Amino acid sequence: MIFGVDYYPEHWDRNEWENQAKLMREGGFNTVRMGEFAWKLFEKQEGEFDFSFLDEAIEILAKEGIKTILGTPTAAPPKWLVTKYDVLLRDKYGRKREWGSRRECCSNSPDYIEKSQIIVREMAKHYKDNENVIAYQIDNEFGCHDSTRCYCEHCQKAFSKWLKAKYKNIETLNKKWGTVFWSLQYDSFDEVILPGYTSCEGTYGDRWAHNPALDLEFSRFSSDSWVKYQKMQIDILREYTSVPITHNLMGHHSSIDYYKLSDDLDFVSWDNYPDNQWGTSEYEYVSMAHEIMRGVKDKNFIVMEEQAGAAGWDIVGQTPRPGQLRLWTYQALAHGGEGMVYFRFRSALFGMEQYWHGVLDHDGVPRRRFYELQKTGRELQKLEKYFVDNKNDYDVLIEKSYDNLWAHGIKSHAKGYNYENHLYSFYKANADKNVMCAVSRGDYDKYKVVYLPAYNIVEDGKVEKLTEYVKNGGTLVLTFRSGTRGDSNEIKPIALPGVFSELAGISVDDFDAPRRPVKIKGKAEGNANIWCDIITPKTAKTIATYDSEYYKGNGAITQNEYGKGRVFYIGCDLDGKAMAELVGYINETANVNTVSAPNGVEVIRRNDCIILLNHNESEAEVDMKGYSVLNNCEFTGKLDGYGVEVLKR
Ligand code: GAL
Repeated sequence: MIFGVDYYPEHWDRNEWENQAKLMREGGFNTVRMGEFAWKLFEKQEGEFDFSFLDEAIEILAKEGIKTILGTPTAAPPKWLVTKYDVLLRDKYGRKREWGSRRECCSNSPDYIEKSQIIVREMAKHYKDNENVIAYQIDNEFGCHDSTRCYCEHCQKAFSKWLKAKYKNIETLNKKWGTVFWSLQYDSFDEVILPGYTSCEGTYGDRWAHNPALDLEFSRFSSDSWVKYQKMQIDILREYTSVPITHNLMGHHSSIDYYKLSDDLDFVSWDNYPDNQWGTSEYEYVSMAHEIMRGVKDKNFIVMEEQAGAAGWDIVGQTPRPGQLRLWTYQALAHGGEGMVYFRFRSALFGMEQYWHGVLDHDGVPRRRFYELQKTGRELQKLEKYFVDNKNDYDVLIEKSYDNLWAHGIKSHAKGYNYENHLYSFYKANADKNVMCAVSRGDYDKYKVVYLPAYNIVEDGKVEKLTEYVKNGGTLVLTFRSGTRGDSNEIKPIALPGVFSELAGISVDDFDAPRRPVKIKGKAEGNANIWCDIITPKTAKTIATYDSEYYKGNGAITQNEYGKGRVFYIGCDLDGKAMAELVGYINETANVNTVSAPNGVEVIRRNDCIILLNHNESEAEVDMKGYSVLNNCEFTGKLDGYGVEVLKR
């Protein structure tokens, strides 16, 4: 199992490397990731290549039994490159993203593509026979620092080409986009603009200025551009090596379609910082991020950067409490991780990330965090079989769609509505009952319940597939703002909930984005705050009604028996209590296994073990028996604060 650290030998005097490698081995680390920001050292001036510093580092580490994951260095272009070539991103106001940080290049700049090709090829050639290189990471965190969309002339040209390939002729585009609105018709693909600054912006907010089809297509195009850029690097590496290739993704991040991005990768890896200067994530939010990362390829992942210390850029975040690094490790593994790499080995003395603490502090002396990870690594050696290559069954699927995410972001329906929060509310309610909940797409038959929240842009064949699933006994959950938009973000002239009307067995004849909380009663008691569909049941039965406003007594949530299965339609948002009640009821009807545990205790039932995670600072008592494979004894039911247990199934 990969148990490693992110390492930057270039940040340390050469005479420290041997000792650092020894210390890593003592810590139990067997892998490093290196190289991803060292372009200038690899190519001092254009065409002058020198990998000697990395060669030496790889060798020193190998002597201690430590293997290398090599990052291609394209996220940090050297100054000579940006000075000589036109590679920098332009923002929507036409401003150049200046050099001086990282991730400032445009994926459609021909020069950036060419120079990337050259450095990646040199690297691949140089390391093709090096047995200590066990994997590649392409670039670093595509999309980070708001770098997905670029408004330069190269993007303009590439966008025209991309649109032409999709729409074939400009009349089709005009018709599908409805450019007749405000006289926005185009005479050729070359004329199509990028959704930059316009007269409307500022009056109503920055995303409201453009035709919604243009905006959505530009999101798709921008995402595709990075997918293509990544593929270009993968193809070059593949000419020289067969080691697995990954990229470090960012969990909930959403400007790139992670399904497409990970299609070309051998495995997904990702960067997890649960508690940094910008705040503490709820543990369910972190679990969901892990599940998204597992779900994009429906395959185990590794964490390429796991928080190892207090994390911040200009200020320091809260330091991980004793036990938390171990707890976060088991949380990752419980949700589909099968390898851990901690960011970073030793805290940097200089540069932007002086405050982003690693396993070791600035002075390099092993302390609490080092010893905690050392202990964790030793434990994991015994438990490897529970994680590596181990597949899990999930009862519930929450389908995440990037198309829908972008479209809801362009026109978010109501104040306070956010698609990702909407998805998270269902994940959290299930996670709090310890339901095995995947976040992915497709292949519905594997699951007892499928949540398709706010699925508004519906691809061809989707309804048929869902109908089969429900007919065969599946439980489908639909929510408001579903089923009425087409691929170009246009609204279809059909009654709500559009293409899902028959499956849901309802019609929505009126709706409200209320200005005050609306009461709900029935199978979910509480308030709606953002949206209320006023439902007329047809073949469905109403299981919750509104209890205030002019629509008091009307349907808020329905249940439709269909074939051997059923469809729930949730017409409103639900506060935490109402959501928990409803999800409880749905799980009951669909025979989904739930487990009650004290607040803050996560119970993950993998196929051959049960993992208990106490996210509370204080001790917790769980009503559960079993044999602890962690401690080789019967489990007493007691978990320490931030404690972990692994029980045999
Ligand atoms: C990640 C990034 C790392 C480092 C870390 C801490 O997002 O991949 O290179 O910057 O954050 O800020």
